[in-house]
Amino acid sequence: MSTLDKTFVDNSSWKPDLFKGKVVFVTGGAGTICRVQVEALVLLGANAAIIGRNPEKTAKAAKEIQDLRPGAKVIGIGQVDVREVEQLANAAKKTVAELGRIDFVIAGAAGNFLSDFNHLSANAFKSVVSIDLLGSFNTVKATFSELKKNKGAILFVSATLHYYGVPFQTHVGAAKAGIDALSNALAVELGPLGIRSNCIAPGAIAGTEGFERLSPSGTEGLGKVPLARWGTTRDIAESTVFLFSPAASYVTGTIQVVDGGYWHLGNFAGEFYPKVIKNQNSIDNPKL
Ligand code: HXC
Repeated sequence: MSTLDKTFVDNSSWKPDLFKGKVVFVTGGAGTICRVQVEALVLLGANAAIIGRNPEKTAKAAKEIQDLRPGAKVIGIGQVDVREVEQLANAAKKTVAELGRIDFVIAGAAGNFLSDFNHLSANAFKSVVSIDLLGSFNTVKATFSELKKNKGAILFVSATLHYYGVPFQTHVGAAKAGIDALSNALAVELGPLGIRSNCIAPGAIAGTEGFERLSPSGTEGLGKVPLARWGTTRDIAESTVFLFSPAASYVTGTIQVVDGGYWHLGNFAGEFYPKVIKNQNSIDNPKL
């Protein structure tokens, strides 16, 4: 079910037809955060292609998002693994064939689980880095000619957990740090072509898988959020609209942190460090 509806347009700060004629290509677009980014862009006039691994989930989300605005076109392209650049190139081709163009790209597909270093295999580390970082690179690769033609914009979905050390997240922290570096380099290299590149770094967003793991009861850690509430998927969507809008036409190479000020005060790790770390990283059953 969609999170946003027409009231988003009626009550928001944005013009209803802000993205009329634009097309957004989104990996992970059926997931919790990226789906709402797409909903906002579609409600504001864009058409969209959402890319995912699970064909049924992707098709269902596409249909539901399309229903948000009369005349909207949203296609779901399933069975795409972002680790395979050819699969993404085919998805980009299909998007152009069906929707005519690509103006905006969101590299949102990601994988995560908690694992201490001793039980995180080299293959598990590689899987997450490949989905998050290589997948982001591949997404831009596959859409580059359209981005160049249309002087488009890229948005990578990053995080804040690599701003400090977060236990059990070596794989994700390394991947997201790489994404920030990738975005900065592309901003500089592709700027002269008229292409902008930015990152969005969500904090603790209620309703996501990561949030359920961090704060199972929904209260752990809330006292450390300066804006005194958890983030919402709409918060991420609002920032996304800004970064793709003409209001951000001189904004590139930035990392937009959307976390209520949370990372400035540290993270959850402090609550259980170092006892849990010692227990988890026991030398029993190590994995290579
Ligand atoms: C230790 C694990 C593990 C776990 C998987 N692995 N889960 N290791 N603890 N809980 C290991 C496996 O044992 C295997 O290593 C390796 O990871 C690859 O797993 P596969 O099952 O082969 O599948 P693959 O498709 O490569 O896996 C992708 C995945 C999976 C990332 C591992 O979790 C996935 O598909 N996730 C998608 C959904 C998801 O994670 N959504 C959350 C997004 S939230 P071995 O050695 O056994 O071969 C998010 C937010 C990040 O990303 C920011 C947080 C703030």
